[in-house]
Amino acid sequence: MTTSIHSTVKLQNGVEMPWLGLGVWKVPDEEATSIVQQAIETGYRAVDTAAVYGNEAGVGRGIKASGVARDQIFVTTKVWNADQGYEQSLKAFDESLNKLELDHIDLLLIHWPVKGKYVDTWRALEEIYRKGHARAIGVSNFHQHHLEDIAAISTITPMVNQVEYHPLLAQESLRAYCQSNDIRLTAWSPLMQGNLDIAVLQEIGSKYGKSAAQVVLRWDLQNGVITIPKTSSKGRLIENSNIFDFQLTDEDMGLINALNQNKRFGPDPDNFDF
Ligand SMILES: NC(=O)c1ccc[n+]([C@@H]2O[C@H](COP(=O)([O-])OP(=O)(O)OC[C@H]3O[C@@H](n4cnc5c(N)ncnc54)[C@H](OP(=O)(O)O)[C@@H]3O)[C@@H](O)[C@H]2O)c1
Repeated sequence: MTTSIHSTVKLQNGVEMPWLGLGVWKVPDEEATSIVQQAIETGYRAVDTAAVYGNEAGVGRGIKASGVARDQIFVTTKVWNADQGYEQSLKAFDESLNKLELDHIDLLLIHWPVKGKYVDTWRALEEIYRKGHARAIGVSNFHQHHLEDIAAISTITPMVNQVEYHPLLAQESLRAYCQSNDIRLTAWSPLMQGNLDIAVLQEIGSKYGKSAAQVVLRWDLQNGVITIPKTSSKGRLIENSNIFDFQLTDEDMGLINALNQNKRFGPDPDNFDF
């Protein structure tokens, strides 16, 4: 049920993950401390970071400063591309834990499907999960064929696939595949990196007294997609969390679905070189 900022979705292993989290890509380490603290004070219970963001330490400090119990906060981090492979991933994960000053992660993801490496990286994530150092494990930027490669060798199915997802990139077939395999989709760049100047979204928003950003985040929830908008502004933290008190009609959902152009703001996972 998506009724409040504290609402969660059950992952395939029973772990509860909040529908809404704060993304902190491009947030400098110092600033991460204050925005994470403010987000938690606002009611957010999930933070999405990554080793490559360089702000895991700041995120960890923000969680501590909030005074909210660790088991009430859902922390996601990711194994970066340069650290992939079995042994390197185990080592990189330890470094993430140290920086965050945590003894476990709630969700650990493979950041991108690095060719020739992601299968071994997945084995490392399974090991971390079995030891109880991550409560859930998953992937990011995986197309269906990458997920099928993992399915062929794994003993654990990824619990989450975090991908670029927004009205201009609706990824319908990937969403259906994930749904039928009990893999929860999470939307990165849900707000199209701030490119919200789209008349249809604004018109729909005006009917509900909501902004284009709120309409898009609500569309995520109604599509069963977890969402992690980034903001460095206290006002927008609040705005982005006020999405649990309205319901888009089927007609409005259809108008938003019709915006899809398969347009990416980030790279295609079949063609990235970092
Ligand atoms: N797994 C991956 O490969 C991957 C890739 C990219 C991102 N991510 C994750 O997804 C998170 C979100 O994606 P993102 O950071 O790329 O972009 P985003 O959340 O789509 O958009 C963030 C941008 O929108 C602005 N914004 C936020 N709230 C707004 C509002 N209510 N109205 C108007 N503008 C608003 C922000 O500006 P202000 O800060 O000034 O408010 C910022 O410029 C990241 O932070 C990261 O955690 C993961």
